[in-house]
Amino acid sequence: MNTSPITEPTEFAIEAKGLSKHFGNKIAVNKLNLTIPKGSIYGFLGPNGCGKSTSIRLLTGLLEASEGNVSILGSPLLGHEESLKKRIGYMTQKFSLYDNLTVQENLSFVGAIYGFAGKRKKNRLEELLALYDLEKQAKQFAGSMSGGQKQRLALACATLHSPELLFLDEPTSAVDPENRREFWERLFDLCATGTTILVSTHYMDEAERCHALAILENGNKRADGSPQALMDAMPATVVEVSGNKLRQLKQTLTQHPEILSAAQIGAHLRVLVKKKVQDPLNFISQLSNGRETVLARPSLEDVFVTCTGDRYVD
Ligand SMILES: Nc1ncnc2c1ncn2[C@@H]1O[C@H](COP(=O)(O)OP(=O)(O)OP(=O)(O)O)[C@@H](O)[C@H]1O
Ligand SMILES: [Mg+2]
Repeated sequence: MNTSPITEPTEFAIEAKGLSKHFGNKIAVNKLNLTIPKGSIYGFLGPNGCGKSTSIRLLTGLLEASEGNVSILGSPLLGHEESLKKRIGYMTQKFSLYDNLTVQENLSFVGAIYGFAGKRKKNRLEELLALYDLEKQAKQFAGSMSGGQKQRLALACATLHSPELLFLDEPTSAVDPENRREFWERLFDLCATGTTILVSTHYMDEAERCHALAILENGNKRADGSPQALMDAMPATVVEVSGNKLRQLKQTLTQHPEILSAAQIGAHLRVLVKKKVQDPLNFISQLSNGRETVLARPSLEDVFVTCTGDRYVD
């Protein structure tokens, strides 16, 4: 039994130092360090298999770490998993509610797990049905709902006990852009009441909505910070080229060691030039044989490109 005392109040909802998880020879999470302030929305951005779900499971205490230390809401996670469970919510990547129970029955079941009963449970269920716009679906089987409705139900269940810290693992992967936007408005409503949210995503636009994020690749954190800070610190300048034969130009440009990447976006070629190039506009102009070139503002996708894969710039 861990008898270490609960620590002093902290401004951080999550602190992780050297957090690692090995599955046999596979290193799913490699020495992850995190400091996530209370009341913020923090993102994990990365491709399939980069370790998003494993990191979330480690931070919820559902999976035992191979190495490292974690503090959640000011308490060491190790030895306090049970008491912390009441203070955190977790929406799993795969819909994990009961298809053959109605919306109301699912909520009622989760409510019972958290010790809600009688009038308190009835009131909380009514509140959640209204808040997540599920009143009309209350008697519908969860299995027959649309992706967006299921996701609202999953969020209602994950927040039923008003957790201080909420983990959302790719919550919008089955949801159209309008519902995603709506979903994010709800996350900011929760954030405004003091809830800290850690959300994993594949989508750049979602990552840009976070207060701060970590870019993960192969279990490693490649970069972290606010979207703006990441863009400001990007080790490349963005130049857009327009004109004809852009596919051929791309082939030429990507051979060049000072060019990190070139990708076509509509009628432009978006070229990432290493920062050490003194005059990137002139540099690309010369290589582009008179095509039009302009400097462009970096995006989070550019940051992602510069800090992952072969183009990783230290
Ligand atoms: N229980 C397990 N046993 C063995 N390997 C595992 C296990 N769970 C995850 N892995 C491996 O760890 C790595 C990270 O997996 P994880 O599920 O955390 O990725 P992810 O970023 O959530 O991916 P996705 O975007 O596809 O959900 C993968 O290579 C995966 O195969
Ligand atoms: Mg996952």
